[in-house]
Amino acid sequence: MFKKLAIGAAFAIALAPAAVSAAGGGEQHIEDFDFSFEGPFGAYDQSQLQRGLQIYTEVCAACHGLKYVPLRDLTALGYSEEEVIAYAAGTFEVFDPELDDFRPAAPTDHFPANDAVGAPDLSLMAKARAGFHGPYGLGINQLVKGMGGAEYIASLLDGYTGKEKEEAGTILYENTAFPGGWISMGPPLSDEQVEFADGHENTVEAMSQDVAAFLMWAAEPKMMDRKASGFVGVLFLTIMSVLLYLVNKRLWAPVKGKKSV
Ligand code: HEC
Repeated sequence: MFKKLAIGAAFAIALAPAAVSAAGGGEQHIEDFDFSFEGPFGAYDQSQLQRGLQIYTEVCAACHGLKYVPLRDLTALGYSEEEVIAYAAGTFEVFDPELDDFRPAAPTDHFPANDAVGAPDLSLMAKARAGFHGPYGLGINQLVKGMGGAEYIASLLDGYTGKEKEEAGTILYENTAFPGGWISMGPPLSDEQVEFADGHENTVEAMSQDVAAFLMWAAEPKMMDRKASGFVGVLFLTIMSVLLYLVNKRLWAPVKGKKSV
């Protein structure tokens, strides 16, 4: 039984690359970036998240909302409470039903929604998309190849070929990461579009990864806690299995001993 399982698993792993190229059809290309938060002990890089927030604020927020993310959570990016208050009030206006008017946002609000051009909300985008769905679409991509939604988003932002076409009055842009190859979002980023206070690299490739990391954090702010408790859980179960095995051996030793005599 165990042998069969092991052979099956070995087969699945050996076949995985074949399945990937078949599913991709050779067209969609997702780059496998090395994000700091990958792997069982990976952690978010706070300065990368801060750069990502700046890119989102200056570029993406014009079209995309982030309505499930509370502004107060920005303290996790290393900002003080005063800085979050200043950012919220200085950046967004929200509609207050009590005042029946707009007022500056406070840390108790969420990032605003944005339906202006029909762009999807980005709060959970990094969890809704995947760079690779695992062999046969099993959804175990993290085990096989650490590739998630952040890879997809970074590849999408950096995947424009420069070609355009018009279809039924909509301009579509060719993109090597988007399923189908043509997306209605124009290339949002260009080199040196956003200036970082610390002078960090601001090429399209670098900024794509920064904003993708930020959106990963937005979709899963407690990733590090989840990994830590997962690790403790696996450790506990491993020790428990060894102990149970030894107890089992000892309990059955008299009975098994008799049989063999
Ligand atoms: C000018 C408006 C505009 C700006 C600015 C913009 N987007 Fe978009 N975005 C769109 C529209 C419209 C769509 C829907 C495209 C489609 O489905 O064809 C979209 C779709 C997306 C998608 C979903 C793709 C998918 O798989 O369905 C992601 C991710 C995305 N944008 C990320 C970003 C990021 C990150 C930024 C900032 C760097 C950004 N966008 C800036 C308009 C915009």
